Amino acid sequence: MKTLLITGGYGFIGSHFIRLLRHERPHWRIVNLDLLTYAGDIDNLAGLNFTPDDSVYRFFRCDIADSSLVRQIFETERPDGLVNFAAETHVDRSLLNSAPFVRTNIEGVRVLLDVATQYGTRFLQVSTDEVYGSLAPDEAAFSEDSPLNPNSPYAASKAAADLMIRAYHRSYGLPTLITRCGNNYGPYQFPEKFLPLFITNALDDQPLPLYGDGKQIRDWIYAEDHARAVLHVLEHGLPGEIYNVSANGEKTNQFMAEWVLNILGKPRQLLRHVEDRPGHDRRYSLDASKIRNLGWQPSISLEQGLSTTIDWYRSQRAWWERIKSGEYRKYYSEMYGQRLKFEA
Ligand code: NAD
Ligand code: TYD
Repeated sequence: MKTLLITGGYGFIGSHFIRLLRHERPHWRIVNLDLLTYAGDIDNLAGLNFTPDDSVYRFFRCDIADSSLVRQIFETERPDGLVNFAAETHVDRSLLNSAPFVRTNIEGVRVLLDVATQYGTRFLQVSTDEVYGSLAPDEAAFSEDSPLNPNSPYAASKAAADLMIRAYHRSYGLPTLITRCGNNYGPYQFPEKFLPLFITNALDDQPLPLYGDGKQIRDWIYAEDHARAVLHVLEHGLPGEIYNVSANGEKTNQFMAEWVLNILGKPRQLLRHVEDRPGHDRRYSLDASKIRNLGWQPSISLEQGLSTTIDWYRSQRAWWERIKSGEYRKYYSEMYGQRLKFEA
């Protein structure tokens, strides 16, 4: 690989991926294409000290659904591969308004696929376990062959993209790869998602709004481990294949919330059971034997990862206070105002 086009590189996982590449593949040229929506933040890569005329890094502020700009960037940069992290990613926001999810996660992917097909570019889509839907407690983990049963508008938009990718591989022979990962956590995660929301609220002695009975299960993985999995599949995956990514980190939300409070030495009374999310998936669990057979394995335990993450949010108050003081307030009161007034 000489030049890699990364979309969504200023988001949470995309920025971990770029940090990983600078360290592990320092000679690769990175072209970062990001719209800088509410979830993208230039500060997420500040530590890498890229300069505007850097020989190994270029940034374009660009919507992946803007076909003429995407085509122009391909024409000038001629990437050898593309990794698509760009997406609308929050299930709760998709329940408020699914339009941006359809535009970016489906139409945006179609545009990337069309242009990649024109240039014959290896294409890796960063997908999610949510495309499979929900498991009962006693059901076997999802394999790559499990049917797609998405339940939220977010999950449906990602499933639609996965099907388009399959079609471009079958119809035009585009060398595509799909990774499907569980719930990520780590530094730089936008504090609308469960763990950073609960950590930052706890640090401010604010209530932690646990949806429903809190017994829903998520399969947690440290973002850096996910980034390594994406790089591994990019380099070793077989075109047309799908790879589940998991560190076997299944825990209930209640367990994770209490763990956060314990580490921070905050009272359990901060935990509030509030009205559940509509269509809330009960359990995710992934069988990741296929990517393990390809030679990847996670390296960070949930204990290590959670403690590093909590230390990071403790020491990076300026990063999340800036986010939480802006437009976020309106979102927070729309999502949690009523819920916290009338606890479940
Ligand atoms: P994020 O919300 O933190 O970042 C998304 C990034 O995409 C931002 O930088 C944003 O500016 C950019 N973006 C959004 N719309 C765009 C557009 N139209 N054009 C160009 N850029 C745009 O997301 P994340 O949590 O880092 O997730 C990255 C990818 O990983 C997503 O595709 C997501 O579906 C997938 N994923 C996430 C998780 C998770 O737990 N966060 C788990 C599995 C898969
Ligand atoms: P989230 O971080 O939104 O990820 P996803 O919905 O993609 O799994 O939520 C993780 C889990 O935490 C999910 O079961 C919903 C739950 N949750 C809460 O209980 N309270 C909250 O305020 C949020 C944001 C999530």
